Amino acid sequence: MKHIDRPMRCGCIGEHLTHSFSKDIHARLASYAYELLELAPHALDAFMIKAPFDAINVTIPYKSAVIPYLSHIDAAAEAIGAVNTIVKREDGLWGYNTDVYGMTELLAHAGVSIQGKKVLILGTGGTSKTACAVARAEGASCVLRVSRDGREGAITYAQAYQAHTDAQVLINTTPCGMYPTWEACPIDIDRFPALTGVIDAIYNPLCTKLVLAARARGIAAEGGLYMLVAQAVRASEIFLGEDYPAGTTERIYRDLLRQKQNIVLIGMPSCGKTTVGTHLAERMQRPLLDTDACIIERAGTPIPTIFATQGEAAFRAMEQQVVRDIATQTGHIIATGGGAVLREDNIQALRANGRLYFLDRPLSKLLPTEDRPLSGNAQALRLRYHERYDLYCRCADVIVDASTDAEVIADFIQGEFST
Ligand code: S3P
Repeated sequence: MKHIDRPMRCGCIGEHLTHSFSKDIHARLASYAYELLELAPHALDAFMIKAPFDAINVTIPYKSAVIPYLSHIDAAAEAIGAVNTIVKREDGLWGYNTDVYGMTELLAHAGVSIQGKKVLILGTGGTSKTACAVARAEGASCVLRVSRDGREGAITYAQAYQAHTDAQVLINTTPCGMYPTWEACPIDIDRFPALTGVIDAIYNPLCTKLVLAARARGIAAEGGLYMLVAQAVRASEIFLGEDYPAGTTERIYRDLLRQKQNIVLIGMPSCGKTTVGTHLAERMQRPLLDTDACIIERAGTPIPTIFATQGEAAFRAMEQQVVRDIATQTGHIIATGGGAVLREDNIQALRANGRLYFLDRPLSKLLPTEDRPLSGNAQALRLRYHERYDLYCRCADVIVDASTDAEVIADFIQGEFST
């Protein structure tokens, strides 16, 4: 972190900033004060005239509205009509656009090449203008914007499905797929067989359905967190008038990703998910959430009673609701019930913000217990194991040898997660 020895007031203005990561990112960069300032639209004019800051970032919905208050604007910001970084100098306010840099860096980080490619950009808002500028600068052969109503020179989704299924890169700049609508996906990528890259500007959740669907097809795909960090690093360089060392964005991105990402433990009943989860929670100072414990608390009865009185389907419905709620959290350890991966919905929800670890404990070391209705005896346990083994492997980001004791398994997971 850069130490700044003069007092410097920095921050970010926008209408809604409660979910912003900007303070977190700038705190990792430099020691200047960085505050999130929520401004109602009617308060913008007085704020910009008074300009009570040394340097600020600007976010939705003020990136264009701040332009009339500037005495200088850089070429990229002017071409796009959006400013996200303002510095106060002796001769007035200078405006810049570092989102363009952020998007360019994100493409490189994701390994998505644009040169000579046909690019579809979903949405017509501010970020879509940034994406268009970047796609053109990177040498796209054709750039088309897609919107629901096809206005402002965009094509409609129906036209995209009809005449542009040869698109090779897709960039989502709409809020479709962002919490709380994480279950939504803006477009059906299966209708675009030539896709080689998918970018989603959304970073909340860390992995949207669009990114998950693209990765499942083997397409290079990435969410918006890297762009967010890269634009902040560039903005901070402009604030300070000096550059950070190479690798700064990568370092902060990884740090932030790990801080936000959940560690999700999946695997057979009695493989040690709760025990390993407890060790991890203690060592990593993270809260532990256990889906079975949440179900018991919500239902007010033990799991065998739920199975006996309401049946497995009712239990699975409760489990799905609990997983959905828990999976929106960040920075947690999540221990799941052995059958949580049986529903694709649960896997998608857990993946949105989590890294999934399968605790692969050999059948010979698993113990049947009476409080587990579906694996209460050795025969049932064996059946479940064979039914589910491939599924656990398929859902996992990491398969962990769980034949040893819980401390060793926790050591391994902590190490793997942190590197
Ligand atoms: C189940 C596993 C249990 C619990 C329920 C159903 C399963 O969790 O969710 O009895 O289908 O395997 P544990 O894996 O924590 O035992």
